Amino acid sequence: MHAFNLNPAKAIAAVTFLSALPTAQAAGLYLKSSPVVQVDAKSFDRIINKSNYTSVIEFYAPWCGHCQNLKPAYEKAAKNLDGLARVAAVNCDDDENKQLCGMMGVKGFPTLKTVRPGKKGKPVVEDYNGPRTAKGIVDVVVDKINNHVKRVTDKDIDSFLSTKNDSAKAILFTEKGTTSALLKSVAIDFLDVIAVAQIRDKETKANELFGITSYPTLVLLPGGDKESVVYDGEMKKDAMVKFLSQAGQPNPDPAPAKSKGEKKSEKKSDKKDKKASAKSSESSSKTTSTESSESTDVPPAAEKPVEVAPPIPAITEADKLTKECLNRKAHTCVLAFVPAAHGETAEKALTSLAELAFKHAHGQRHLFPFFEVHTDNDASSSLFKSLELSGEVEIVALNGKRGWWRHYEGDFSSESVESWIDAIRLSEGVKKKLPEGVVSEVAEETAEEKPAETVEVKVEESVEVEVEPESESPSKGAEPTPEATPAEAPKHEEL
Ligand SMILES: *[C@@H]1O[C@H](CO)[C@@H](O)[C@H](O)[C@H]1NC(C)=O
Ligand SMILES: *[C@@H]1O[C@H](CO)[C@@H](O)[C@H](O)[C@H]1NC(C)=O
Ligand SMILES: *[C@@H]1O[C@H](CO)[C@@H](O)[C@H](O)[C@H]1NC(C)=O
Repeated sequence: MHAFNLNPAKAIAAVTFLSALPTAQAAGLYLKSSPVVQVDAKSFDRIINKSNYTSVIEFYAPWCGHCQNLKPAYEKAAKNLDGLARVAAVNCDDDENKQLCGMMGVKGFPTLKTVRPGKKGKPVVEDYNGPRTAKGIVDVVVDKINNHVKRVTDKDIDSFLSTKNDSAKAILFTEKGTTSALLKSVAIDFLDVIAVAQIRDKETKANELFGITSYPTLVLLPGGDKESVVYDGEMKKDAMVKFLSQAGQPNPDPAPAKSKGEKKSEKKSDKKDKKASAKSSESSSKTTSTESSESTDVPPAAEKPVEVAPPIPAITEADKLTKECLNRKAHTCVLAFVPAAHGETAEKALTSLAELAFKHAHGQRHLFPFFEVHTDNDASSSLFKSLELSGEVEIVALNGKRGWWRHYEGDFSSESVESWIDAIRLSEGVKKKLPEGVVSEVAEETAEEKPAETVEVKVEESVEVEVEPESESPSKGAEPTPEATPAEAPKHEEL
C-alpha cells in the first residue's frame, strides 16, 4: 500500500482537526439504545467469536453514505432477529478498531460478514453479499443459525430417551418437517444443558408415548425419573426459555457490553413487542418482507455487494472523449486502451483500475477519472496512434490543460498500477508532451461547466476537487468538502 497524502501541511491539518473533535470522531452510527449491538476490538472475541450464536457484523464508518443508508434496514433486521441471532456493528473509523477491521479483510464500507461457531470453537466467517434490506439480511442469517436440534423418529425415540437418561431433554412435537429458527435458538441457549429435539406428528409411536394430540407441543423431560412437563404457554422465545430453565440454566451468552441491563431484561420477557418478533423464523421473515418492500432507505446503488467494484466507464464517442479529457481545460484523465472485445490482459487492467477507483471512492478521496477506451474504435484509435502506442493494452494518463501525458509501463496488477497512479498524484515520474493536435480547442467551455457529466464515473463524487499537486491553485485539493475532509483521507488508507 502507498500513502497518497504525503503533503506534510495536510497531515498537520488532519491531526489538528482530529484533536479538535475527539468526541465526534468516536461517535458511532448507532445509538446505545439501538437493537444493533456495538462491538469493538476488545469485545469482538467475547461477543462474536466465542458466542454459540450466529452473528452478522457490519463494518462501517460513520461518514459513509451507504452505511447511513443501510442503518434503518439494519436496525430492522436486528429487531427481527432479536433472540435468534446477533446483529452487530463495528465502527472501523475508531482507531482502536482499525486493526480488527483490517484483520477481518474489510476493504470498503459497509462490509457485512456473518460469523458462526464452527468446529472446535473456531468461528466461520463468511461475506454477506446479499441485498442490503432487512429481509435479505434476516433470511441469510436465519439460514446460518447452527442447528443443534435433533430430529427424532419412531425408530430412534427409545435410544434418544435412554441416552444420558439423567440429563434433561426437551421435545417439540410439530407438524412441520423443518426446524424453526426459534427452536434452533432455544437449543443454542441450552447447549449441553438440555438436549432439544423435535418429533413430527406422523411419528405415531412417539406421539402416542407422550399422548400428544395437538401441535405444536413442547415437552420437558427434566431427567432421571422426574415426570415430564408439558408447556402450555405461547411459542415465544422468552417464555419457552423460562419454562425450560426449571431443568437447567441457559448458557450465559454475553450481553452487549454497553446496554447490559437492557438485553437482559428483554430476556425476562417484559418487552412484549420484542418477544413477538422472535416468534419463529417464518414469522420474522414475513414481517420483514412486508416491511422491506416499503423501505426505500437503501438506494439501488447501495444494493451492490461492496466487494465488487463497478467497472470504469467506457468512452466510445469522440465528442465525449474530447469533452472529458482532450480539451484545454481538462484535468488529468486516465485512459485504458483495450480492444473492444476484452482479452485476459484487458480484463486484468480494467479490474485493477476499477478496484483502485472504487477504493478511493470508498475512502472518499478524490481521484482523477478513469475511462476505458478502445484501440479499435474511431473515437480513440487516432489518439492511440498519435501517442505511438502499440500494445494490446495500454494505460496512459493525460492532462489537456497542461499538455502532458504519461505512459504506464508495467504489469497490470493493482499494486503496480496503484503505485503509478500514486506517482502521478505526487507529480513524480516521466511526463511527455502531448503531440500537436491531440487536444481540441473547441469543446473547452463544456468541459468544466458540466461537472454533472462526471457523475457517470460512479465512483467520483465531485471531480472538481481532484488532488493534483501540479495544479496552479494547490490549496484547491486540500480544501475540506462536505464529503471529504482532509482528516479522513489518510485515516482510511490502510483499509
Ligand atoms: C475471531 O475469529 C476469527 C476467525 O477464527 C479470527 O481470525 C480472529 O482473529 C478472531 N478475532 C478476535 C478478535 O479474536
Ligand atoms: C430414566 O431412568 C429411570 C430409572 O433409572 C427411569 O425411572 C426413568 O423412567 C427413565 N427416564 C426416561 C425418560 O427414560
Ligand atoms: C456455548 O456452549 C457451551 C456448551 O457447548 C457452553 O459451555 C458455553 O457456556 C456456551 N457459551 C456461551 C458464550 O454461551
